[in-house]
Amino acid sequence: MPHDFDHKPTVLVTGGAGYIGSHAVLALEAAGYQAVILDNLEYGHKELAEQHLKAKVIVGDTTDSALLNELFNTYKVAAVMHFAAYIAVGESVTEPAKYYRNNVYGTLNLLEAMVAAEVKRLVFSSTCAIYGPPKVVPIPEDHPQNPISPYATSKLMVEKMLLDFQSAYGLQSVCFRYFNAAGADPQGRLGEDHNPETHLIPLVLFAALGKRESISIFGTDYDTRDGTCIRDYIHVSDLADAHVKGVEYLLNGGQTSFFNLGNGSGFTVKEVIEMARQVTGKEIVAVACDRRPGDPPSLVGTSDRAQQTLGWTPQYPDLERIITHAWQWHQKRHA
Ligand code: UFG
Repeated sequence: MPHDFDHKPTVLVTGGAGYIGSHAVLALEAAGYQAVILDNLEYGHKELAEQHLKAKVIVGDTTDSALLNELFNTYKVAAVMHFAAYIAVGESVTEPAKYYRNNVYGTLNLLEAMVAAEVKRLVFSSTCAIYGPPKVVPIPEDHPQNPISPYATSKLMVEKMLLDFQSAYGLQSVCFRYFNAAGADPQGRLGEDHNPETHLIPLVLFAALGKRESISIFGTDYDTRDGTCIRDYIHVSDLADAHVKGVEYLLNGGQTSFFNLGNGSGFTVKEVIEMARQVTGKEIVAVACDRRPGDPPSLVGTSDRAQQTLGWTPQYPDLERIITHAWQWHQKRHA
């Protein structure tokens, strides 16, 4: 069933000034959509959004019902992309209340405002962490769900809410379970800038830039090909493209669905560091350290379902390009 809009509709993007959200707005705008960003700017970068995106940035929180209602009254929103969430797995263990309030209650608030405004299409930012330690690799979407952190539990709770909102209110959603988001806009406009930064690729590149002396390798005694953890790195622009395809799927009458987004191949921490040495031409000192609690040895996913259902194909599946784009971004950002 084709959607009933003469021109491309408006998409509300929560967390649209953050890392993945801002790349999604870039992709939406490139595809001719209008976007409105809702971001509380706790971690988002307003100046980057305003410099590179056409979207208006509304500063506010998903826990603010009055603001959400006003927003849906002001803009004719056809779909929502929901990125706004806390993402630090370790912090979620020590401060679970913070995660359930923002990630679960904030989302419930958003969903209630959507139902009240009769906006019934949502693309949700979920995570492969909902599977917990994998029983099968590569991980398919029907893998058992066993989250081991409050962060991952908060994302799974939202997935469950979305199934109930579909049954009760006809709200259709696409949940994307990302593997490891990495890289930056190939044109260098946007990229990753978390504070504090905890992710491997930016930290390795900080070492290359001389912003830190070395990179710590968390665990060298895993049962993997070189003893370090394996992850499936997926380019942020490929994630962004999948989100646009997710909106299109919903606008065309698609029903609630769950999709992995990864490249289906994994790299060890040592392989990532070695690739960064090649890309940057810098030495990059690596220091073997203890394991980081909660890290599964290997996380690699199949994305066949997204490829088949949404017609999504990653444009930048190779690690070298992912790190090259991240390097271009960090050099510019920290010049
Ligand atoms: N690592 C290091 N040294 C560092 C940082 C990371 O060795 O200084 C290792 C980690 O132990 C892990 C790998 O590099 O083995 C990747 O770690 P990241 O922190 O970059 O990413 P994670 O796999 O821990 O986390 C990502 C997302 C989470 C999401 C999770 C799903 O950031 O939001 O994937 O497993 F929940």
